[in-house]
Amino acid sequence: MMLEFKRNILITGGAGFIGSHLVRLMVHKYPNYRIVNLDKLTYAGNLANLKDIEKEANYLFIKADICDFEEMQKVFTEYDIDGVIHLAAESHVDRSIKDPFAFAQTNVLGTLSLLQAANLAWNNKQTEKLFYHVSTDEVYGSLPLTGGYFTENNKYDPHSPYSASKASSDHFVRAYHDTYGLPTVISNCSNNYGAFQFPEKLIPLFINNIRHNKPLPVYGKGENIRDWLYVEDHARAIELIFHKGNIGDTYNIGGFNEWKNIDLIKVLLKVTDRLLGRPAGSSDKLITYVTDRAGHDLRYAIDSTKLKRELGWEPSLQFEEGIEKTVKWYLENQEWLDNVTSGEYMEYYKKMYEREVRPS
Ligand code: NAD
Ligand code: DAU
Repeated sequence: MMLEFKRNILITGGAGFIGSHLVRLMVHKYPNYRIVNLDKLTYAGNLANLKDIEKEANYLFIKADICDFEEMQKVFTEYDIDGVIHLAAESHVDRSIKDPFAFAQTNVLGTLSLLQAANLAWNNKQTEKLFYHVSTDEVYGSLPLTGGYFTENNKYDPHSPYSASKASSDHFVRAYHDTYGLPTVISNCSNNYGAFQFPEKLIPLFINNIRHNKPLPVYGKGENIRDWLYVEDHARAIELIFHKGNIGDTYNIGGFNEWKNIDLIKVLLKVTDRLLGRPAGSSDKLITYVTDRAGHDLRYAIDSTKLKRELGWEPSLQFEEGIEKTVKWYLENQEWLDNVTSGEYMEYYKKMYEREVRPS
């Protein structure tokens, strides 16, 4: 018997870090929606992230590239898609410095291909439709150490090829809203942490390195500041904005939780050593200062007052609790980490990311 669904929601990039948390949330919370997860499965996409829900009746996976416009058109028609939550992207700043073309291709042209497919499929019948674009606070540029926050009214000022590509995709989303009347919404979120994050990003990379007694490459002096949010709180915010957000609006998402990199690294060292049963301070020697990231933004800090005021969203987890859960997860899921850091990938990673250790 064919199942009838109230809505057919396309989530792109659902096999990645944030996407997998969002897919899980949507599949469980909305059994009457069909959740179509479309992902190219690049190095960052991993279906193991979704093992627990892959057999659910309202879940469907499609392996495809968002840049393939004809394929996107087919997906809209075949599955009668009425809502899109678009997360598929190249997401790592260091990779964007080495290979900016891949970022323009997926983040800009891929987003354009999806927008055009949605616009053609929904033309003249756009009620009850929504194209939700998931973006980043990095589009706003960098803040001084002395204060200030990114609000939804900040001018765009991207510095890395990654943030330039995300800024460009945000502009295309607005252009489709303003020009063709496509119902769109955008959110710009701060740094996420939690389970299933690819270990090229600071937190999982450092937890894994501490476990294996490997150097912790701190860029520059470790004084850059990032604003950290637990990934499940981001997924909850997306779900809320998807259902309740104003068409054409932008929402900032963040938990007012700024950390200087070196202070965050000290927390990671303390928690990881404790959970591994090592004496406090025994892994501190792994800290290794290396050449700075080119164009390294100094400080990000998100003002998410609008989201709280208009939709009532707040982060549910204190940072200390979130970090404890996160370190535990990586230590208990060493097999997941080994799978994504083994063999061919490691060789590629080494070539791409060998950094010079700064002479002391
Ligand atoms: P990720 O790198 O973990 O996952 C990206 C996913 O997109 C992967 O599953 C990958 O296979 C898929 N993908 C890549 N290119 C594709 C293509 N051409 N076609 C189809 N699928 C493709 O990324 P993430 O950290 O989960 O980020 C998800 C989104 O959220 C991105 O748009 C990112 O810019 C944004 N974002 C991330 C953060 C963060 O802290 N990680 C914060 C704010 C916003
Ligand atoms: O702000 C949101 C963004 O956060 C997202 O849009 C990006 O997709 C996501 O990757 C993240 O970008 P960052 O560059 O801030 O995250 P990353 O984990 O790469 O780095 C966090 C900080 O730690 C940054 O200041 C650089 C520093 N760093 C990072 C790595 C990987 C190090 O000092 N050493 C490292 O090895």
